Amino acid sequence: MFSARRQLINSFRQFSTSSINNYKVSVLGANGGIGQPLSLLLKLNHKVTDLALYDLRGAPGVAADVSHIPTNSTVKGYTPDNDGLATALKGSDVVIIPAGVPRKPGMTRDDLFNTNASIVASLALAVAENSPNAAILIISNPVNSTVPIVAEVLKSKGVYNPKKLFGVTTLDVIRASRFISEVANTDPTKEQVTVVGGHSGITIVPLISKTLHKDIAKDVKDALINRIQFGGDEVVKAKDGAGSATLSMATAGARMANSVLSGLSGEKDIIEPTFIDNPLYKSEGVEFFSSPVTLGPDGVHEIHTLGTIAGFEEEMIAAAKETLKKNIQKGVDFTGQFL
Ligand code: NAI
Repeated sequence: MFSARRQLINSFRQFSTSSINNYKVSVLGANGGIGQPLSLLLKLNHKVTDLALYDLRGAPGVAADVSHIPTNSTVKGYTPDNDGLATALKGSDVVIIPAGVPRKPGMTRDDLFNTNASIVASLALAVAENSPNAAILIISNPVNSTVPIVAEVLKSKGVYNPKKLFGVTTLDVIRASRFISEVANTDPTKEQVTVVGGHSGITIVPLISKTLHKDIAKDVKDALINRIQFGGDEVVKAKDGAGSATLSMATAGARMANSVLSGLSGEKDIIEPTFIDNPLYKSEGVEFFSSPVTLGPDGVHEIHTLGTIAGFEEEMIAAAKETLKKNIQKGVDFTGQFL
């Protein structure tokens, strides 16, 4: 009886999966260190039926390569030739942007601003023109500033939808799961850490008080929080000038993209922390903030409050808000000059 019912549910799931999972995803910056493995992971995602890979150079090669993987999607690669960016974007349900330069040892994410701000702003203009209804996932750093840049560009074109713009902070979330499991000697796949705030240094606030490990010793907790905040530096240092996180970032980006697609397709209870246009601290002048968000058919469905958190976490959030305000304003000021 139970198994017959289960079979019925499964067959319904399969039916609904094939009927509603039919999405075009475009990746801008697809030939990069993140873009390539991200494109691979998207090719393996059954919700994606049309994968458009764009880069200044090399994207047709990446597309030809992943197109041989036997999943049910078509893949095309584009360069700026023949209006490639517009063609890649047209009809996209989700646009993922990892275009831009990565950090070298000794650099902060903010040091990337001068180069990446104009790359992201010009890509946002193309999105506004060609796929204004798409959900947009921003990976390019500094995320705390690039997300406000995209918002300003879209506003200037009259197509800003705050429910569909996401700064990807998922790498902080997956790092937190991994690092806490190393401290607590647990299975990292079972660990869930809510990470809020922004995506750089002290703006990254992992809420350890909400995990099962809230009582770990203070020195261990402090070291863990610091590692989550500055985990990216470990990779930058180890790569020794050859870039920053790409493979773990692609994993994180693919997870966030899958969650957004799941929300679009009507799946329930899909929650991810993400850097969004957020009412939480707007009255204090913080326009964007990463909180846990339930994703839905229109993008952001519900923004969750942080609930009760520890005193030291309140202090971390206060510090994060001050930096975030400056990072956000920097993006807004830049866009004013760019447009
Ligand atoms: P990369 O240099 O390997 O790749 C960047 C790609 O972007 C290159 O293929 C380049 O040709 C392309 N590109 C540059 N300008 C473009 C434009 N106007 N249109 C289309 N493509 C363009 O860099 P990587 O390692 O892939 O990193 C990309 C970005 O992601 C960096 O800004 C990095 O800081 C950021 N990042 C973000 C993380 C996050 O957690 N949100 C984590 C790690 C990196």
